[in-house]
Amino acid sequence: MSVHKIKYKKEEEALGKALDSQLFRRLLSYFKPYKLQIAFATILTITISALAAVRPRLTPIAIDDKIANKDLPGLQIIIIILLGTLVLQGAIQYIMAYLTSWIGQKIIYDLRKKVFEHTINLNLKFFDNNPIGRLVTRVTNDIEVLYEVFSSGLVTAFGDIFTIIWILYFMFTLDWKLSLVTLSVLPILVYATSVFRKNVRSSYARIRILVAKMNSYIQEHITGISIVQLFVREKKTVEEFEKINRDHTEENKKSIFYYAVFFPVVELLGAVAVGLIIWYGGGQVFSSYISVGVIISFIQFTEMFFRPIRDLSEKYNILQTAMASSERIFDLLDRKSPVVDPEYPVPAKDVKGNIDFKNVWFAYNEEDFVLKNVSFCIKEGERIAFVGATGAGKSTIINLLCRFYDVTKGSITVENTDIRNFNQQDLRSNIAIVLQDVFLFSGDIKSNIDLGNDLISNATIDESVRNTGLDDFINSLPEGISHKVNERGSTLSVGQKQLISFARALAYNPKILILDEATSSVDTETELLIQEAIKKLIEGRTSIIIAHRLSTIQSCDKIIVLHKGEIKEMGTHQQLLENQGLYYKLYQLQYKEEFKNA
Ligand SMILES: Nc1ncnc2c1ncn2[C@@H]1O[C@H](COP(=O)(O)OP(=O)(O)OP(=O)(O)O)[C@@H](O)[C@H]1O
Ligand SMILES: [Mg+2]
Repeated sequence: MSVHKIKYKKEEEALGKALDSQLFRRLLSYFKPYKLQIAFATILTITISALAAVRPRLTPIAIDDKIANKDLPGLQIIIIILLGTLVLQGAIQYIMAYLTSWIGQKIIYDLRKKVFEHTINLNLKFFDNNPIGRLVTRVTNDIEVLYEVFSSGLVTAFGDIFTIIWILYFMFTLDWKLSLVTLSVLPILVYATSVFRKNVRSSYARIRILVAKMNSYIQEHITGISIVQLFVREKKTVEEFEKINRDHTEENKKSIFYYAVFFPVVELLGAVAVGLIIWYGGGQVFSSYISVGVIISFIQFTEMFFRPIRDLSEKYNILQTAMASSERIFDLLDRKSPVVDPEYPVPAKDVKGNIDFKNVWFAYNEEDFVLKNVSFCIKEGERIAFVGATGAGKSTIINLLCRFYDVTKGSITVENTDIRNFNQQDLRSNIAIVLQDVFLFSGDIKSNIDLGNDLISNATIDESVRNTGLDDFINSLPEGISHKVNERGSTLSVGQKQLISFARALAYNPKILILDEATSSVDTETELLIQEAIKKLIEGRTSIIIAHRLSTIQSCDKIIVLHKGEIKEMGTHQQLLENQGLYYKLYQLQYKEEFKNA
């Protein structure tokens, strides 16, 4: 079974989760800031249930006392009281609905913020193992499920219980024998409810899995749309989607079936109870043990009694779904980054760009070393290049220097301070990276250069644009630097994106510049632009360049050749050529290639 499948399986189990008191308590803790409001809502819901239960209690008074005795003024008073309770109940219900949704939205807002903030700060390693689709589901769907619990769910469940208690109280004080007769259907109701709950719960769990599956399927295939279309996989993709879609529909139909059976069963039991009241109570009326008013009042109580029971079993389902969702949310919130800031960080203000790797070993996964005993040092202002085959570990070195991951063995120091003694943000504020694949956010070119940093002035941006040669392109656009950029910059060419990312790095004016060169090639003109831009970019700062085109790096102070995670050669371009080793071979290969292309 693949890792993915195992994960899925785990999720599946979590979906069928029953009530868990620890989880429940943790969920309840989110109510804490709104204690007063919750207390108020609880008082309101108790009042509503009492008001509702009072009305049938007035029936025997109206019928047996007032109507039977032809007491019209008395009857009018009862009617006014009835109307009054109705109006009052409506008003309170309005406040209740407003208050509970307010509480629900507040809590959800807090929680969503917390989850997103937590996720954004999680270490990169976490994202290696967690598909984007699933994380998006956490922050949106899973939290939305909790809304029902936090808003009306729990408070009205409370109200339902109170309604039942009030009704039982009034019924038993009116006539306990008739009450027992009425409630004789209760065991059947309890049984029917438990059968319903069990079935709906598992059906619900399966629906949620299918929804998650559908979400990630859509997300993945729309992200990879060009591949789908290029390799003419549309039909197959649609077919696969259809299957998930069909399963989803089938499962929904099943759950609707359970509801369709359960609700009428509850109705039927209610009718049986009413029948029992009329049968037994009617007999008692003949022998005048019970009045007609009491019988009508019991019938009214019975109708009111079954609704909260039905609602409660539905709410129990909501609660269980919420349990599963909250477990996944808390699981996310409990994730600790393996890379942590020190308790007493060293300020990273005076970083000049002296970098030292000392016997660094590193594995993404235990024991599978990607870097083996790597040592080198870079002096302030030096230009260092890394070369090596794909998968040699070049980007990994960058990941470690930026502390996206911590070294397994050995150490990395910047200005003689182990980078683990800096705050991650302080360290990174000294580094700018131009990555292999440029990522652009939706917005405009300007916002992609300053990334919303207010400290970067327009003058700085203009200068960076000029220095990277991006100005030609920007001037050709009608909106200039405010030109709209789509998600991932899909409307721009690779070269344009590259230049934007150069301007971004330049605008941030870092002490240390890292360039992870794109493997994709661009046209000669853009290539020249990029080469020029790189020259400007690395001027006067410590630069680390990962180059695939050796032409980029001939003027570097030091070239380090990596092979399968080990440093094989180190020196200047000339020295390495004279060495006639790995670099020499690489150079020969590329030179021939370029010669051929020329
Ligand atoms: N997040 C990751 N989790 C596990 N293994 C990884 C991860 N990233 C990279 N690797 C592995 O580490 C090794 C080195 O990868 P790295 O990205 O450093 O190579 P590279 O030298 O930058 O290659 P390229 O020139 O293709 O960019 C590869 O074998 C790769 O499969
Ligand atoms: Mg790489």
